[in-house]
Amino acid sequence: NVLILDFGSQYTQLIARRVRELNIYSEIKPYNNPPKDLSTYKAVILSGSPFSVRSEDVPHPDLSEIKGKKPLLGICYGAQYLSHFNGGSVAPSATREYGRANLSYVKESDNFLKGIDEGSQVWMSHSDTIKELPDGAVRLASTHDVENAAFRIEGEKTFGIQFHPEVYHTKDGKKLLENFLVNIAGLEQDWTPDAFVETTIKELQEKIGDDKVILGLSGGVDSSVAAMLLHKAIGSHLHCIFVNNGLLRKNEFESVLDQYKHMGLNVKGVDASARFLDALKGESDPETKRKIIGRVFIEVFDNEAHQVENAKWLAQGTIYPDRIESVSASGGPSAVIKSHHNVGGLPDYMKLKVVEPLHLLFKDEVRRVGRNLDMDSTILGRHPFPGPGLGIRILGDITAEKVSILQEVDAIFIDGLKKWGLYDKVWQAGAMLLPVNSVGVMGDERTYEKCVALRAVESTDGMTADWVNLPYEFLQKTSNDIINKVKGVNRVVYDISSKPPATIEWE
Ligand code: XMP
Repeated sequence: NVLILDFGSQYTQLIARRVRELNIYSEIKPYNNPPKDLSTYKAVILSGSPFSVRSEDVPHPDLSEIKGKKPLLGICYGAQYLSHFNGGSVAPSATREYGRANLSYVKESDNFLKGIDEGSQVWMSHSDTIKELPDGAVRLASTHDVENAAFRIEGEKTFGIQFHPEVYHTKDGKKLLENFLVNIAGLEQDWTPDAFVETTIKELQEKIGDDKVILGLSGGVDSSVAAMLLHKAIGSHLHCIFVNNGLLRKNEFESVLDQYKHMGLNVKGVDASARFLDALKGESDPETKRKIIGRVFIEVFDNEAHQVENAKWLAQGTIYPDRIESVSASGGPSAVIKSHHNVGGLPDYMKLKVVEPLHLLFKDEVRRVGRNLDMDSTILGRHPFPGPGLGIRILGDITAEKVSILQEVDAIFIDGLKKWGLYDKVWQAGAMLLPVNSVGVMGDERTYEKCVALRAVESTDGMTADWVNLPYEFLQKTSNDIINKVKGVNRVVYDISSKPPATIEWE
């Protein structure tokens, strides 16, 4: 197991991801709240950071139980940190160093740079530079502008590198991480979906015993895979609840419920559409709509959960990026906060213990686990869909009529993407019903009807996204179909904004 101490770099999640790609298990912890028990970690990586070691309130965790005792790799800020607090010196660079550089001097030490040649491209992103190495250090690599691009402290398995091995543009970055983790730290590369499924099922059985667990299914990848793992572990003691909030896609409630039943899950579908629509009546503020939907969901879920006698656990499909974001939101180092990703759990009065079998995985790993569990690709490949559903895609207030218009439009768009083989090339797609009427002529009549916007984006994590260049012929056909088939819509536009600044959802 590898510990990644996070100093708030935008790349920290990428480090974890690269480590997982090497089939090694890793955990990210904030520098200001490191784990008390370090015994299970065989290596430690210090991330980069927006901080400078020269500033006054520099993050300064105690590494006395780590440095010199465990293999330790400092990346960027991590390397500067190791220098600054161990007799070296760090100063502002003459020029800020961002982007491409090439290694100009490579010295081998314990296979740290094995297989990495002079000239190898690395990626820099820093404005401070290491002027003098820490006590007992030897230089292992330079670039044209950075003399101390890599170093090692002799007599210890402590290494520092100024460049970022975790980014794709550092050509041999993964090799370097492998050299450090496998050759130097001696970690096994046995973190595979197979091993994950086997150990997780065993752990769940030990943890839960004969207790009953309830889980809210959403139709999405994460909750479905979490349910399947628990199902394998505890069978009928898992009680799944799938709530129809009336804001799902067309036919989604029935078809997904059916699919879950076929998977053998013990699932109860609860149609609370009317209750949600009623609570939302007349409300047009996006955040208030979110709050109402969240509150009613909890009421409905709580009510259903009470029907399961002796339920002791609440299972959630929380995945790693959700957790990192909640760490940030509660005072961790990273500046990025997206509170709406976290379902936020249930109120204290439910008194349930929480179990989150996927909390260490990234989305693609969740899909790998799902495939390993033989789950259907229509579930595993499903686009992300927000918890408040069409409620935040109908701009302004929500009515049953608007929901049904948007469901039709969305279905034509999504089915079209599938038919044209485009669905899997898009990270997320959907339609928005705009609070705008515009003039049209249909036959000989003047119309004054609704406008819808289509949005399709590519992304890896939803944090940044770009619009997808869908074929004109596809857009033409889709627009035609929507206007001809959906009564009340006479205009279709395609959203060509990237995120940032335009978020994926319009509300
Ligand atoms: P934005 O709109 O912030 O969305 O670019 C990024 C990702 O998050 C989803 N999203 C939500 N998911 N509750 C959710 O569960 C929400 O309130 C919510 N708002 C946005 C969005 O669909 C995209 O995948």
